[in-house]
Amino acid sequence: MLPESHVRLGVNIDHVATIRNARGSMYPDPVEAAILAQNEGADGITAHLREDRRHIRDEDIDGLIAALNIPLNFEMAATEEMQKIALKHKPHAVCLVPEKREERTTEGGLDVLKEENKLREFIKPLSDSGCRVSLFIAAVPAQVEAAERVGAAVVELHTGAYCDYYYEQNQSKYETEFENLKNMCAHASSIGLEVHAGHGLTYETVSQIAAFPELKELNIGHFLISDAVFNGLGNSIKKMKELIGEARAS
Ligand code: PXP
Repeated sequence: MLPESHVRLGVNIDHVATIRNARGSMYPDPVEAAILAQNEGADGITAHLREDRRHIRDEDIDGLIAALNIPLNFEMAATEEMQKIALKHKPHAVCLVPEKREERTTEGGLDVLKEENKLREFIKPLSDSGCRVSLFIAAVPAQVEAAERVGAAVVELHTGAYCDYYYEQNQSKYETEFENLKNMCAHASSIGLEVHAGHGLTYETVSQIAAFPELKELNIGHFLISDAVFNGLGNSIKKMKELIGEARAS
């Protein structure tokens, strides 16, 4: 049994597929990376099947479902096509994210408030089929509360802006975003939502977020795959887990 204070690390393997697709080769294989991550202590694997299949492809999802013993967090846009795929596979978790073709990565959170009715209907069959549905949102009270109303079990708070401000050394915006994340972590948990966080996290930015007492899971990808180029994926995962563990212990 993991201690109550344990924060799970979900390893996002999308960018293993980015490297593969850059050359149209068969390698590196994101499923092999996911198995390695599983063996090296990842608590879950996250993969985002984008509408344009720019990194993860349908056959990668088939492979992950077949190979993993740890939970798969299937990230997707709230489209009919993706809902069908999720209902076919019934992964442990589905994380709904906004998607724009021209963006480099998932730039903002879902506007749950604006799409409340659509999302309520969209989520129901997924929850009914046993998937734990999570909504990727900015740390804003109205979005957290709307997530609860539409029937999500989890919110994942977007840490992208917090990380950007850290590296831009924009102290005042960094502090404001940090406070927003901390407060929304407590608020979401107080209204019965499980709280996760992710996007842009690195060895330098993870500890402060991991220390939020209500936090249950962090999803980290781009930095881990980048650090793995120099240190190997197993070592990168171990170091990230160590930092998360230390942040909880303190
Ligand atoms: N969580 C969500 C919902 C995401 O969309 C992403 C990026 O795919 C991540 C976490 C991981 O972000 P990063 O790759 O920057 O660590």
